[in-house]
Amino acid sequence: MKSFVRKNIDHNPIVDNVFKIVNMANEAIAKKGKENVINATIGSLYDEHGQLVALDTVFNSYNSLDNRTKAKYASSFDGNPNFREQVYNWVIQDTPMTLAHSVIATPGGSGAVSSTILNVLDNEQTLIIPHIAWGNYKSMATIANCDVKTYQMFDGDAFNINSFKEVCREVMNKQGKVLAIINDPCHNPTGYSMTLEEWEEVIAFVNELSKEGPVIILDDIAYIDYSYDLKNSRQYMNAFNQINDDVMIVVAFSCSKTLTSYGLRCGGALILAKEQESVRSLEILMEKHARASWSNIPNAAMENFVKVTTDYKDEFNEEKQKYVDLLRQRCDIFKTEADECGLVYYPYKEGFFVTLKIEDDELLTKFHEAMLAKDIYTIKVNKGIRVALCSLSIDKCEGLAFKMKEILDSIQ
Ligand SMILES: Cc1ncc(COP(=O)(O)O)c(C=O)c1O
Repeated sequence: MKSFVRKNIDHNPIVDNVFKIVNMANEAIAKKGKENVINATIGSLYDEHGQLVALDTVFNSYNSLDNRTKAKYASSFDGNPNFREQVYNWVIQDTPMTLAHSVIATPGGSGAVSSTILNVLDNEQTLIIPHIAWGNYKSMATIANCDVKTYQMFDGDAFNINSFKEVCREVMNKQGKVLAIINDPCHNPTGYSMTLEEWEEVIAFVNELSKEGPVIILDDIAYIDYSYDLKNSRQYMNAFNQINDDVMIVVAFSCSKTLTSYGLRCGGALILAKEQESVRSLEILMEKHARASWSNIPNAAMENFVKVTTDYKDEFNEEKQKYVDLLRQRCDIFKTEADECGLVYYPYKEGFFVTLKIEDDELLTKFHEAMLAKDIYTIKVNKGIRVALCSLSIDKCEGLAFKMKEILDSIQ
């Protein structure tokens, strides 16, 4: 049979391990009842009654939009001007930013990340990502015909700056350019957030490295608005002001988590550089890419983001804060119990997930399967087990770490 599809691409189908386990969990719930099953697979925020959280302040505002606002095309391929400006304001908040900037509207954070990869790297170049990471980074690199190289996320309980430096240097030597993803704060799936000092070290290093070629840091902030210290959640962005001429930062912002509007595809890529000309060079490519792929972003999604974060800002923040507090309560319970029984997890500070640390691949698979057999459904990630506490009610969180430790001990 002749081939109908393009040749120069990986033809293997997507292996979606998440959906497989989600389905298994749903089948178990249907058969055994939800009180007998722990479904810690869902990566969206759920309330204490097992319902997806859809913030009233967000959707009441959306429903009040005129039908024509919903029907209309966006006013530009790179996003509505008021949206672009408000994404910038929202992302940096009160950080005194001195860099040139531009925002391109994208379908969620996914669009911002994939467009950056496609428009920064050439064919067969290498994208740098953390060794434990959101699986889509790799898929996005593959579709751009690029490889990935990983840095170790941790050195003890801290960001592994040495591994980051080593991998960046190696890639710079090979291709004369570096594009590295840092998913911070609230890293998926570990819940780690870097300190200001760690960011300062990253910036000092990339300034040095950029003598050999351009360096682009892609900061994926998908979960930033669930930071436990929201007031200081953007403080690390002060370090961005120190970049030199040959460093660029792209911040991938997503409305999915911030507004609990995952399906209403909306987000943005905030491009930051010292010179406006550098910002413009990526803006041109991203705008053309938008035009040639998704065309434009839903007009109403952009208008609603502006409305919610300006007209209803206080009410929205107040409503969201209740869920940030809830998330914290769930994670505190899990962590306290895990510490008590010696169940080891990666350094968690804030965010949707806690990830158990299992470095032996054989044990990891055995442990994951043993938990499935006891109706505890989790997601296996590289060197760990992701526990989605964002969708588990407090009563399901209670005692969970003990159950997991007991299962782990029984198979060792
Ligand atoms: C780390 C990370 N980045 C980005 C995204 C992008 O999400 P969306 O495209 O819905 O904004 C996700 C979603 O799960 C994520 O986990």
